[in-house]
Amino acid sequence: MKIAMIGTGYVGLVSGVCFSDFGHNVVCVDKNPQKLAQLKAGEVPIFEPGLDTLIAKNIAAGRLSFTENLAEAVDGADAVFIAVGTPTRRGDGHADLTYVMSATEEIAHALTGYTVVVTKSTVPVGTNRAVAKTLAKANPNAEFDVASNPEFLREGAAIDDFMRPDRVVVGVESARAAEVMRDIYRPLYLRDFPIQITDLESAELVKYASNAFLAMKISFINEMAALCERTGADIKAVSRGMGLDNRIGNKFLHAGPGYGGSCFPKDTSALARIGQDYSVPLQLTEAVIKVNEDVKRRMIEKVRDACGGSVNGKVITVLGVTFKPNTDDMREAPSLTIVPALIGAGASVRVVDPQGQREGRDLLPGVSWDDDVYKAVEGADALVILTEWNEFRALDLKRIAAAMRQPAMADLRNIYDPEDVANAGFSTHISVGRASP
Ligand code: UGA
Repeated sequence: MKIAMIGTGYVGLVSGVCFSDFGHNVVCVDKNPQKLAQLKAGEVPIFEPGLDTLIAKNIAAGRLSFTENLAEAVDGADAVFIAVGTPTRRGDGHADLTYVMSATEEIAHALTGYTVVVTKSTVPVGTNRAVAKTLAKANPNAEFDVASNPEFLREGAAIDDFMRPDRVVVGVESARAAEVMRDIYRPLYLRDFPIQITDLESAELVKYASNAFLAMKISFINEMAALCERTGADIKAVSRGMGLDNRIGNKFLHAGPGYGGSCFPKDTSALARIGQDYSVPLQLTEAVIKVNEDVKRRMIEKVRDACGGSVNGKVITVLGVTFKPNTDDMREAPSLTIVPALIGAGASVRVVDPQGQREGRDLLPGVSWDDDVYKAVEGADALVILTEWNEFRALDLKRIAAAMRQPAMADLRNIYDPEDVANAGFSTHISVGRASP
């Protein structure tokens, strides 16, 4: 099949590359000439494990190409995927559909023969219908159907998520469009996973509801963590006990500094706005957002406590600033709230992150960057673990404690056992969801 992928951001690039790996002929379109030059040369503009190999393999096989020319890519395509950004609109929390709608206009003029125009970007309920209207208005002779096909990829595990999905959700209005979508995903569902064919509005909502529900699990466990700290319970035991109930499940019950990234913050905020627009206040979603903001503030207090009550004049080494491990993405990372607050209160901050520096350099002015944890803790007053990269899970804690001026740790991801930390010589160990000794 011939597929055009409009937008080579995270979702578009991963989806386009994976479709080409299924054997489809994929042309990825982007307006950014620098990005295109990079991609054509086989360089990957984002950090995603395994993506570089897959790009090189499929370019070499002649199934994957990149262009600025949207009309050329859309000409003769069986399906055109819209995978452009839908950022939070400044001021009101709505998803900004400017890019989706301008791509739609361009696609309309380029359509030749029956084409399914698929929205992969996360878009509010009703957008696919608006896309169909725009296509018909801009090109009354065009023969097309629209489809909604939300994505459920996690950064850092995106290829595996694409190749082994829990489900593929497709919203369509015609049997013909459903057939095209089934053909596109056929290489996958031969391996027997559910493909849910539904209506446009339900598909659009599945995406927001799923992300908001996962965000709710995180905010819930973060609230329980605060209660554990006061009551003497241990959040790890509470999460485990809850997660053993199959109805609850053990995933997304790790307490920490709050969720970040390009999806949960944006999608929870957009969903709350959708609820307001339809006069159905989504009280849970609104609370999830508020709890997540509060959690970040609590983390700043924890670091202050680890420093003995004030961070003024203290040297703090922060491990991990990306919003989660295995990504270079800094969008809405808790570090962007926590680190500037520490600097503002008079601390000097050293950062170690395996991938974060490229994006983080501009976003975290005033920090110093280091590649080596052991060097970065020399003479420091506190060690703060903010993102749980594997590299930080098995550190020589004795060596670290000995190198610090004050061996104090704020482990905001609970990756270390309190007993091990104490035995290594740390005088203070503050974690999440446990009473501090
Ligand atoms: C999320 C969803 O997991 C994907 O299914 C979805 O496709 C994607 O958003 C999207 O809408 O594009 P992602 O943002 O890559 O994926 O990251 P997650 O692994 O879900 O983590 C999100 C945040 O929650 C991170 O900041 C992470 O540290 C935090 N988190 C996650 C916790 O604090 N606790 C947990 O137990 C799990």
